[in-house]
Amino acid sequence: MNNVGKRVAVVTGANRGLGYAIARRLAAQGLHAVLTARSEQAAEQAAAKLREEGLSVSSHQLDVTDPASVVRVMADTGVTYGRLDVLVNNAAIAIDRGQQASAADMEKVRATIDANLMGAWRCCTAAIPEMRKLGYGRIVNVTTHMSTFGQMNSGSVAYRISKTGLNALTCILAAELHVANILVNAASPGKVATRMAYGKAEQTPDEAADTFAWLATLPDSGPTGQLFYRREPLQW
Ligand SMILES: NC(=O)c1ccc[n+]([C@@H]2O[C@H](COP(=O)([O-])OP(=O)(O)OC[C@H]3O[C@@H](n4cnc5c(N)ncnc54)[C@H](OP(=O)(O)O)[C@@H]3O)[C@@H](O)[C@H]2O)c1
Repeated sequence: MNNVGKRVAVVTGANRGLGYAIARRLAAQGLHAVLTARSEQAAEQAAAKLREEGLSVSSHQLDVTDPASVVRVMADTGVTYGRLDVLVNNAAIAIDRGQQASAADMEKVRATIDANLMGAWRCCTAAIPEMRKLGYGRIVNVTTHMSTFGQMNSGSVAYRISKTGLNALTCILAAELHVANILVNAASPGKVATRMAYGKAEQTPDEAADTFAWLATLPDSGPTGQLFYRREPLQW
């Protein structure tokens, strides 16, 4: 496989759901997509399906809660392809539906923040040095309407707070990195028909992937530090 010249995107949690659809869309747009997953076998199975469609993809094990695994995937990508252009922080858990802040199970809170906020943050700090070498980078954080202050409410409190933290990280990194031509944005997919979804889904993963692929391939003059839904600005 010769990927010289292709932009390279690392997508977390790409073995299924929205992450798989984003990786597929990016590869269809001409990037090389590195599909990562907690299970090496699951990552490779997903990549093999996309290779059957003629897409340029590879797989790598990545557990975003394991710092060594995070460092390994970003470094291996830099060495193997000579570049890491795009990071999509998609991996997340939602394990506290119905939970109230006033009586929270702090172990669920810790695990959720570790995966959804710290996991994405770890991936950023490991990927950014590779992007700085290129003088180019696009970081896309997958958030949720449930993290916005306009829709803040009880229930799923760890999930909400982890994603609100991710929103703050998006703004802070964007401010730090725009001079390096690294654009950092967040988008909510709305309700998508995946294993995580509950209630009525508004979109398929393929439909929702559009906004994330758009943010992953923004021109240098593109927005940074902003939140989107269906390519439209959304209030934090
Ligand atoms: N579906 C919705 O309606 C909806 C709404 C708003 C926001 N979102 C966001 O969309 C993103 C994708 O979710 P989804 O709907 O596609 O859910 P999903 O089908 O449950 O997929 C979640 C993905 O994250 C992975 N993951 C979880 N913990 C991980 C870890 N520690 N390290 C690496 N990967 C990990 C899962 O891997 P395993 O297969 O190993 O579990 C899976 O690939 C999430 O950020 C979610 O918060 C979804």
